[in-house]
Amino acid sequence: MTISFACYFLISKGELATGRPANVSVTSDETPVVGYSEFTLATCTASRSQPAAQVSWHLDTLTDSVKVLTNTVKHLDGTYTVTSSLIGSPTVEMNQQHVQCVVRHSTLKEDLEIDHTIVVHYPPQLVTVTPLENFFSAHGYQCEADANPAATHFSWHSRMNQAMPDESINVEGNRLYFLKLTPDLSGLYICNASNEYGAGFGSLYWHKGEKMEDNHSEL
Ligand SMILES: *[C@@H]1O[C@H](CO)[C@@H](O)[C@H](O)[C@H]1NC(C)=O
Ligand SMILES: *[C@@H]1O[C@H](CO)[C@@H](O)[C@H](O)[C@H]1NC(C)=O
Ligand SMILES: *[C@@H]1O[C@H](CO)[C@@H](O)[C@H](O)[C@H]1NC(C)=O
Repeated sequence: MTISFACYFLISKGELATGRPANVSVTSDETPVVGYSEFTLATCTASRSQPAAQVSWHLDTLTDSVKVLTNTVKHLDGTYTVTSSLIGSPTVEMNQQHVQCVVRHSTLKEDLEIDHTIVVHYPPQLVTVTPLENFFSAHGYQCEADANPAATHFSWHSRMNQAMPDESINVEGNRLYFLKLTPDLSGLYICNASNEYGAGFGSLYWHKGEKMEDNHSEL
């Protein structure tokens, strides 16, 4: 049995990059919600370094829609904390976009790049009513909404808010089933999809015996 030892030596101080490395993190304190004009979308913090770190961003698709606010604080022990925030008006298109915080510091051989995904919350935007596939015994339709977080509540209304005819139509959450296919059921059916931020509407024009569906949505 052989045991090997490895020894490492520090070269003289002058040949090493000096300074204290930064502790770097990217955070979103509050989830951005569509409708606010100025919101802090993300903050990159390089804390307690010596000298101060250089913090910048790769913004990709967000280049034209956000501004960068950078702030440097010097602590009593001689170290620096640099915070760089992305400020903008949250939009649906910003949701799931990727950005990178780039930190440059004398203790780092290369720039440190930290990936961050922007998350934006919004009420149902596009609400569609589509026929269920492979549904033969009666006509079934499904209401779907683009929302973040996902729509949690669905309700259906028929023909200018008339009560739904219980014996002819079955509602199960986001699904609507026509149990009878009679002409008196012809007309407009509205799906109301909502999450905690609001509601969106989709519609179905149902006509006896024909597959005429129309979907549109509005806020
Ligand atoms: C870096 O920051 C995090 C969060 O503030 C903290 O929990 C962690 O201890 C820090 N690490 C170092 C090495 O200072
Ligand atoms: C849509 O549904 C939400 C949540 O149930 C409700 O608050 C809202 O009043 C409904 N809107 C209409 C027009 O029915
Ligand atoms: C209804 O929505 C579907 C997608 O969900 C789309 O393919 C279709 O073209 C829409 N129909 C109308 C009439 O807008």
